[in-house]
Amino acid sequence: MTITSEELKRKYIEFFKEKGHKEIVNSSLVPENDPTVLFTTAGMHPLVPFLLGEKHPRGKRLVNCQRCLRTTDIDKVGNEMHLSFFEMLGNWSLGDYWKKEAITWSYEFLTKVLKIDPSKLHVTCFAGDKDALRDEEVAKAWIALGIPKERIYFLPKEDNWWGPAGTTGPCGPCTEMFIDTGKKPCSKECKPGCSCGKYFEIWNDVFMEYNKTKEGKFKPLTQKNVDTGMGVERTVAMLQGKKSVYEIETMAPIMEKIKSLTKISKPNEQQTRSLRIITDHLRAAVFILGDEKAIVPNNKDQGYVLRRFIRRAVRHGKLLGINENFTEEIAKVIIEINEKNYPLLKQKQSFILEELKKEEEKFRKTLEKGLNQFKKFAQNKKIEGKDAFLLFQSYGFPIEITKELCDEQGIPLDETGFYEEFQKHQEISRVGAEKKFKAGLADTTRETTRLHSACHLLLYALRKVLGKDIMQKGSNITAERIRFDFNFDRKLTDEEIRQVENIVNDIIAKGIKVERKEMPVSEAKKIAKSEFEYKTDVVSVYFIGPSIEICAGPHVSNTKEIGEGNKKFKIIEQESVAGGVRRVKAKLI
Ligand code: ALA
Repeated sequence: MTITSEELKRKYIEFFKEKGHKEIVNSSLVPENDPTVLFTTAGMHPLVPFLLGEKHPRGKRLVNCQRCLRTTDIDKVGNEMHLSFFEMLGNWSLGDYWKKEAITWSYEFLTKVLKIDPSKLHVTCFAGDKDALRDEEVAKAWIALGIPKERIYFLPKEDNWWGPAGTTGPCGPCTEMFIDTGKKPCSKECKPGCSCGKYFEIWNDVFMEYNKTKEGKFKPLTQKNVDTGMGVERTVAMLQGKKSVYEIETMAPIMEKIKSLTKISKPNEQQTRSLRIITDHLRAAVFILGDEKAIVPNNKDQGYVLRRFIRRAVRHGKLLGINENFTEEIAKVIIEINEKNYPLLKQKQSFILEELKKEEEKFRKTLEKGLNQFKKFAQNKKIEGKDAFLLFQSYGFPIEITKELCDEQGIPLDETGFYEEFQKHQEISRVGAEKKFKAGLADTTRETTRLHSACHLLLYALRKVLGKDIMQKGSNITAERIRFDFNFDRKLTDEEIRQVENIVNDIIAKGIKVERKEMPVSEAKKIAKSEFEYKTDVVSVYFIGPSIEICAGPHVSNTKEIGEGNKKFKIIEQESVAGGVRRVKAKLI
């Protein structure tokens, strides 16, 4: 069946709507209330509080197409299948239907709607271990649908367990669906999950029946959930009979445009890899820049991931002989392809192009010199940690560029040494440094819930002290601190800071019960000031003492929990981030 990405999305959403699901919004790529990851990595992400039992305003059956970004597989980008940025279709049961229904509908959609030959379908199930039993229930459901035992594989946790998205949270065994491409098996052991490309993974049904705790324990959840994910680009590539995701209609024009800027007519393997990396990375960069949150390239968190995408794309462009600025040209193609589904890309086009240009120019200034410096270091047949750090510090080479250069030269890199060197310049452990670079996961704990709740009180207090027009412009919460941006164009005085802190601490000390009410957006907006657009018709409104906010984040049930352990709310820093936007950082200490 030949199908476009748009048709696949429409069919999927319609199919699940018919099964009683409500469509939910495609959330921001930068999670508002989840500090465990820098980006939305799966459709379930914005749903974590609801997977843990909070009531979702749209009900118990949900469906959507979610834009996602993952950096964990960045090393694999350049092969046929792996993408950093991709779209994921998903359907969810929040304590409603369970394994049998989920599997039956997956099968029906694949074979009846997409008309995939059932004899090509292979599935995997969780083999069981000390934390959870072998998933016979899932295997039985597949057998009942006619999948013979030979095409059902039991695999261990590393293959058939999904989540939590961060270090803690909802997770569980999964069943993955693969299509046999008909290619020859690469070995006797070749089976779904093998990376040779014979089996094409298209869908994952996760049965979120556990909550992984901070101590690493898997506690059964009272609410059993289904979380599924189907990669749009992969599925479309498979349905269109393409060899790689880069050949489908939403990707090929980007790669073509890059190729047209080179003198290459028939790219070899290495050049194809570079073309794919540029396509993937610039697509990711455009979507980050074009997101609701204004992320710009810098050396921190999401901004650093963005910087790495752009710089690596520029370096691969250089490998293909592109020595002039080109990222803007490519971004225009990416925006044109996606603007219908993501109108914000078009609205922010000049910002996107400007930021790309600035970052590319900045990097081009040091790229040549950095490459020469690398060559000098490479004469020692090894790149030491301090060399890699110098390349990072003085020439702006993200570690993976240095790693790649080393691989190309066949010389080793002391990556641990690099992190140690980095650590010396930061107040963090080496492991912390490594985590930062992998753009990995921070810890989510009760602390973030407490800080998130405190954030509501902070906004309330700022309005009390500075004026009722104060609006939230952005926030980021980790287990350690709140970062909060709001519209204000001068430094807060010490007295104002003290007043804000006192208001927050008074509400904490009063031990007020936190209330949540569901109401239509129009009503909610009358009582809770909000500049955000809500695409759902019903939202959750939180009443924390005098503070009223529309929110979907995690909350304490009583304000006294914020002050647990005799902690006091304290503003520790303030700065200006942009014209008219002030930033404060606060902690519970
Ligand atoms: N959350 C699951 C995944 O991303 C469905 O594979």
